[in-house]
Amino acid sequence: MKMTLKNGNIKSASKSFVRISLTDKPKGTKKFVRQNGIETLEIGAGKPSEMNLRKFIILCRAIVNTAKANKCKKIAIQFDRTLELFKNLRSVTPEHISQLAAENFEMANFDFNLFKTKPKEGWDIVEDVYIYGKFSLEVEEAVKKGQEIGKAVNACRILANTPGGDMTPSILAKDAKNAVKGLPVKVTTLDKKQIGKLGMGAVLGVAKGSTEEPKFIVLEYKGGKGKPVVLIGKGVTFDSGGLNLKPSNSIYEMHMDMSGGASGIHAVALAARLKLKQSVVGLIPAVENMPRNNALRPGDVLTSLLGKTIEVLDTDAEGRLILADALTYAKRFNPSVVIDIATLTGAVISALGLYASGLLTRDDALAEQLVRDGEISGDYVWRLPLWDEYEHRVKGTFADLKNVPGGSTSRYGGATDGGMFLWQFAKELGCPWAHLDIASRMTSAEGDELAKGAAGTPVRLLIRFIEQNAV
Ligand code: BES
Ligand code: MN
Ligand code: ZN
Repeated sequence: MKMTLKNGNIKSASKSFVRISLTDKPKGTKKFVRQNGIETLEIGAGKPSEMNLRKFIILCRAIVNTAKANKCKKIAIQFDRTLELFKNLRSVTPEHISQLAAENFEMANFDFNLFKTKPKEGWDIVEDVYIYGKFSLEVEEAVKKGQEIGKAVNACRILANTPGGDMTPSILAKDAKNAVKGLPVKVTTLDKKQIGKLGMGAVLGVAKGSTEEPKFIVLEYKGGKGKPVVLIGKGVTFDSGGLNLKPSNSIYEMHMDMSGGASGIHAVALAARLKLKQSVVGLIPAVENMPRNNALRPGDVLTSLLGKTIEVLDTDAEGRLILADALTYAKRFNPSVVIDIATLTGAVISALGLYASGLLTRDDALAEQLVRDGEISGDYVWRLPLWDEYEHRVKGTFADLKNVPGGSTSRYGGATDGGMFLWQFAKELGCPWAHLDIASRMTSAEGDELAKGAAGTPVRLLIRFIEQNAV
């Protein structure tokens, strides 16, 4: 969508624009009126005294969705009026509000229609946003930046929404290259032979059940002189469960099991696009988890890249296996911090519901920062325990480790078990590490004001985090 900023009043906008006027009526109210001969769409924003950043994010999306539903392709918004909503919140800067507005306008304007026939009258989207009023150059910059962030979130959503048949490990590798075209990002893709030669037995093990060969995608952006932030994204392009096949009602959305990988790819691309002064590496182990005749069997033992052996009690706990090898591989980049992002467990959905991702780390400072960055960006995260008490659950019976506890308590605290398994590898890194279980935010939820399908989590959080770590 085009966003134009103009210091001035509504008169400077062409007649084809519909003015958006925010009222203090409750959220959800809308009304068309004519004010001084200008077509105006009044949208309820609630009482200014009750406004906060969370509500503002939803309001921005609701503005675009209301415009779309009423076929307003061009809308005009008065900037200083929007700021008035925040007159009670002195900690919020005009720049941050502008960035958030632009991000969320873009996110709400997105629909996944790659596989739909275009209607004669075109898609219902907002083509033009005209922002008028009085504002600084910094605000203009913030709007541009917000747009880039929103577009990166949407690009991530396209990858995640693409059906499993059209999104294999090889295609994901190609899409990673496409995502950074023209940007100073180096992409290297390791193929099955190289993965095997390195000794990534866990990646190979998961990939065995599929005719699609595994790929290990490496993206490198050198924006600063310091140690890089390493992002590891789970890239399971389809998770059938393997021989521990998922039941019908659990298998449907499993083409989105590469959402972590997609967010990693687009976070690195975005860091480069925004010219952030921080080096970032993205590692995406990409596999398809399928149950063909020579698939991984429950009971099989894998030797990871680290050398630790793993009993596979459940082939459906595949994400932690491929991430284990990626965590070991991360060490060669001498990272300042490692964050892995994965749709790892259904259990995190049971624990947190649909409005926060799980955060598991042994590092309190890192946890605090990620919770704070989550709150500010809109990608909310909530911490779950990763205490010693849980560690015995991933110790193996016939190997060093097992990928799930097994037995009658296996269902309990599954998000922590996933994190605890990863910790067995992350502890060798010698730098802070956090695990984000984004299964709960894989798709948009009721009230999000986002299109059905992938939510693009947590690109906004990651970019905020990288920015804060810039040196
Ligand atoms: N990809 C799934 C987790 C998932 C579930 C993501 C629902 C998004 C929505 C993961 O690989 C998985 O299958 N996890 C198992 C772990 C279990 C076998 C310990 C699960 O959650 O059931
Ligand atoms: Mn699985
Ligand atoms: Zn999975």
